[in-house]
Amino acid sequence: MNHFQYQGNDLYCEQVAVRKIAEQVGTPFYLYSHATLSHHLATFTAAFASVPHLVCYSIKSNSNLAVLKTFVNGGAGFDIVSGGELFRAQQVGCDPRKIVYSGVGKTEQEIAAALEADILMFNVESTQELETINRVAGQLGKKAGIAIRVNPDVDPQTHPYISTGMKKAKFGINIARALEDYRHAAQLPHLEVIGVDCHIGSQLTKLSPFVDAIAKVRELVESLQQEGFAIRYLDLGGGLGITYKDEEPPSPADYAQAIIAATRGLNLTLIFEPGRVLTGNAGILVTKVLYVKHGEAKNFVIVDAAMNDLTRPTLYGSYQGIEAVERSTTGTMLADVVGPICESGDFLAQDREVPDFGQGDLVAVTSAGAYGFTMSSNYNSRCRVPEIMVKGDQILVVRERESFADLIRGEQIPAGL
Ligand code: LLP
Repeated sequence: MNHFQYQGNDLYCEQVAVRKIAEQVGTPFYLYSHATLSHHLATFTAAFASVPHLVCYSIKSNSNLAVLKTFVNGGAGFDIVSGGELFRAQQVGCDPRKIVYSGVGKTEQEIAAALEADILMFNVESTQELETINRVAGQLGKKAGIAIRVNPDVDPQTHPYISTGMKKAKFGINIARALEDYRHAAQLPHLEVIGVDCHIGSQLTKLSPFVDAIAKVRELVESLQQEGFAIRYLDLGGGLGITYKDEEPPSPADYAQAIIAATRGLNLTLIFEPGRVLTGNAGILVTKVLYVKHGEAKNFVIVDAAMNDLTRPTLYGSYQGIEAVERSTTGTMLADVVGPICESGDFLAQDREVPDFGQGDLVAVTSAGAYGFTMSSNYNSRCRVPEIMVKGDQILVVRERESFADLIRGEQIPAGL
């Protein structure tokens, strides 16, 4: 469910016509619905109401402060993967006891900052990281809560770039070796072993990989409990997929039902790190048609957004919906929707039946709320686009459009050059 709907021929975000926002802020821009974000979090949380749980929204999918604040207001904590994300979490007043820290390459500075902030738990991804966290915690006179991220070697059946739980992945510690690392961690004086963690991949559209992973993780948890480890948390990561085109992912309720059944009797607080399922369909990218070019082999709709603004189509070959903001015609054409960047990989859609767009038309690129703005760049010296949030009938600019001055901030021409 989301709050981007047509009223007559015009696309609305909640109570505001998207055309009106474009008139106010120009194009391109990202647009988020506050009601959709809140609704997605509430639905996800409600699905787990019958068991002790903590929802730690994965900041990387959309890190805008207004989005984060919306989730904090809804009771969420955060999954962070860098010092920068910790900083963002602090900016919106997240309770540090609701923060978990994942990632294969945490630096000593980042570990120290997270310890100073008193976060709940580090999800540790290597034996050396265990030792580093122990050392840094010792220097600071702290005790670090840790879980080991185990790699259960299941195939999440998703794009290889976002599949993380197989043997060949750089993530986590092989589940067969994890017990050894847990025993090692128990010897380290500045660590407190409190959890087990696993995240197997992103955009999962089936329940079976989650269930298979839990079956393996469950055995580990039981062995640890038998050895006397006081495991309190089972972090099952994120990964629940969304509908971009015609995928039929499990609903949060189905996902919860399967997970609650698979973890029954363990007596642990479940932690989740959802990203895309909360933000993906809560955002769109709005862009304007600059030119329509009828080439010999193909038609091209050239828009003012590009691969630097939304990189998913070119990076993963992923599908993003293309809709008219104002449906002025029922005609369609087969075209590539492309940006102004000097690369053939600069496309938002390829060989797609799209509305019969004309110059100046507004285009909504749908399902762009996750891994959209956060993966954008300044390539071709393009200013990053603004982020707008609609709440009811209000248009809130939650990140301004960058200026040319922003583009060169920090650069210097050395004297004598
Ligand atoms: N937890 C960990 C440890 C993760 O690595 C990720 C995502 C998540 C949670 C959140 O996963 P989600 O619920 O959003 O699936 N840029 C790619 C997705 C990369 C996902 C990276 N890790 C894309 O645009 O599809």
